[in-house]
Amino acid sequence: MLMGKLALTGGPKAVTLDRRKFAVPPVSEEAIAAVVELMRKGETSISPSVAEFEREFADYVGCEYGLALTSGTAALQTALFAVGVEPGDEVIVPSFTFLTTATTVPAMGGVTVFADVDRDTMTLDPTDIERKITGRTRAIVVCHVWGNPADMESILELTRPRGIAVIEDCSHAHGATWQGKKVGSIGDVGCFSCQGSKLVAAGEGGVLTTNDRDLYERAILLGRPEKRAEIREDSWIKRFAFTGLGFKYRPHPLGIAIACEQLHHLDEMNEIRDRNGAVLDAGLADVADVMPQRVLPGCQRVYNSHCMRYDPDKLGGVSIETFLRALSAEGVGIGRMRYGHLHGNPIFTEGFPYGTKGATLNAQGHDASDFANGPLPVTEHLREYAFRAAPRLETECPELIYQYLDAYHKVASAVDELLTYEKEHKSEA
Ligand SMILES: Cc1ncc(COP(=O)(O)O)c(C=O)c1O
Repeated sequence: MLMGKLALTGGPKAVTLDRRKFAVPPVSEEAIAAVVELMRKGETSISPSVAEFEREFADYVGCEYGLALTSGTAALQTALFAVGVEPGDEVIVPSFTFLTTATTVPAMGGVTVFADVDRDTMTLDPTDIERKITGRTRAIVVCHVWGNPADMESILELTRPRGIAVIEDCSHAHGATWQGKKVGSIGDVGCFSCQGSKLVAAGEGGVLTTNDRDLYERAILLGRPEKRAEIREDSWIKRFAFTGLGFKYRPHPLGIAIACEQLHHLDEMNEIRDRNGAVLDAGLADVADVMPQRVLPGCQRVYNSHCMRYDPDKLGGVSIETFLRALSAEGVGIGRMRYGHLHGNPIFTEGFPYGTKGATLNAQGHDASDFANGPLPVTEHLREYAFRAAPRLETECPELIYQYLDAYHKVASAVDELLTYEKEHKSEA
């Protein structure tokens, strides 16, 4: 194992391999061929290939219905409408997530209620959800953050008897499972982003999944009104089907063709990422200052990102900035995640800025929830200390992982050097 002077202070780097050598091409040759074929056929807007993808995606997730949309954000907005969120209804969401898991709530007239996450899984904490449920709670949006399935058992125990809808934000979790069921098939609606960095990437795109015919038809009505023939004649929403509701979220078939190829290889790719993730986690088990996300029993995570929590107390109080700087200098592809900053922002505390003179209430005149500002102590801790521990490892690359492990061990054994560095560079912090 390589120890000695840190690269941060002029020593040799622990990681000498170029990680780009282990990357997969962003778009496969099969996907390029599928895109070209659609262009040759002139199917650049309406294409039967989108419905084929929807069928395949729904089958993969284990749902009756799949609806492709322009983005994961469109899927979340559509899901809130589909489950019947009305103006003033409260929707419980994490702050430890991407923006639109939460911002779609006020955009649809709902009142955002933030709940805290569990420190170890980094997903919504059922105890805090329970504290925040009121008579106005209509839905919960659960994010399987970075591919780690949330505690669905406890969440369903809380929501089912109360008739609260559960929307799963599966944007990081294509293929993850809970008790043998794929995420996206557990709650009432699943929402998947297929944005370019996701495990099934269309470039830009999204998919909504559900087993509920009524929800599926409402989802069609919001963003895919050209599919209105699927809305049953006796449904009360049928009379809106000709116009739709003013939104159009039909996805681009060329992007969907790319996503479809990725879906065909998803299990195989998840297995590789999983094996690599397991080697990295096992190799770091003796490094006390970093903790991987805890995976709950009965769950299989996927690695959209390999995130961990840093504990400065286990490394002599070295700040996270210095710790990450040291790893980065060694050549590890680390990064800050920047989640956990949503609560307290004006879209939640003041409302949607429809007017030109500055909104103080949300669009429907409902006050912000008592929890628009937090406090969310665990989220606020994690937003400081959660970090991306490695880049996505998508090919067999044990030699690269061993170099990363060397780097982590080297940094963990250099407390004095790190503290001295920190003292000398105080003004840069
Ligand atoms: C957790 C999460 N939810 C929702 C979204 C929104 O998806 P999109 O970018 O496709 O709109 C993202 C995208 O990064 C995400 O990471």
